[in-house]
Amino acid sequence: MALHHDGGCPSLYFRLFDLDPDLLPLFKYNCKTFSTPQECLSSPEFLEHIRKVMLVIDAAVTHLENLHCLEDYLSNLGRKHQAVGVKVESFEAVGDSLLYMLEKCHGPAFKMNVREAWIKLYSTVVKAMSCGWKV
Ligand code: HEM
Repeated sequence: MALHHDGGCPSLYFRLFDLDPDLLPLFKYNCKTFSTPQECLSSPEFLEHIRKVMLVIDAAVTHLENLHCLEDYLSNLGRKHQAVGVKVESFEAVGDSLLYMLEKCHGPAFKMNVREAWIKLYSTVVKAMSCGWKV
């Protein structure tokens, strides 16, 4: 399945702040928070973050057969997210938004088995990221 590095449909992140409005203050650039989801969604820094998420997903798809190659990278990435105040549970909202986007973009072509494969892939990525969490 081809992935677009521009982040695909923008509905991914519209959905994200609907699901979890508390994520908005975590996207802070130059010590400034956004006052509305719209402001955040249209900022170049946030759009760049969407691109970063899609690159990670793309790397996971590319390394599907040997995901352990990405373990160190993903655990470090997890640590960085803990440092900016993200909770492991919050990744669920990103996963749900991703599924929502895929369903919207692919319509009836998005079959149950493909959906399950995506859930499996995403939860593997999140599991690897959560290894970086320090208690
Ligand atoms: C960096 C927030 C989920 C991939 C960052 C940064 C913030 C952030 C504030 C640092 C600034 C920036 O580079 O934009 C969040 C929040 C998330 C989330 C609030 C929602 C729970 C994810 C997910 C992925 C991801 C699910 C990938 C699967 C990245 C990458 C970077 C990054 C690759 C750059 C790290 C680096 O500079 O080394 N994130 N993020 N993020 N995020 Fe996220």
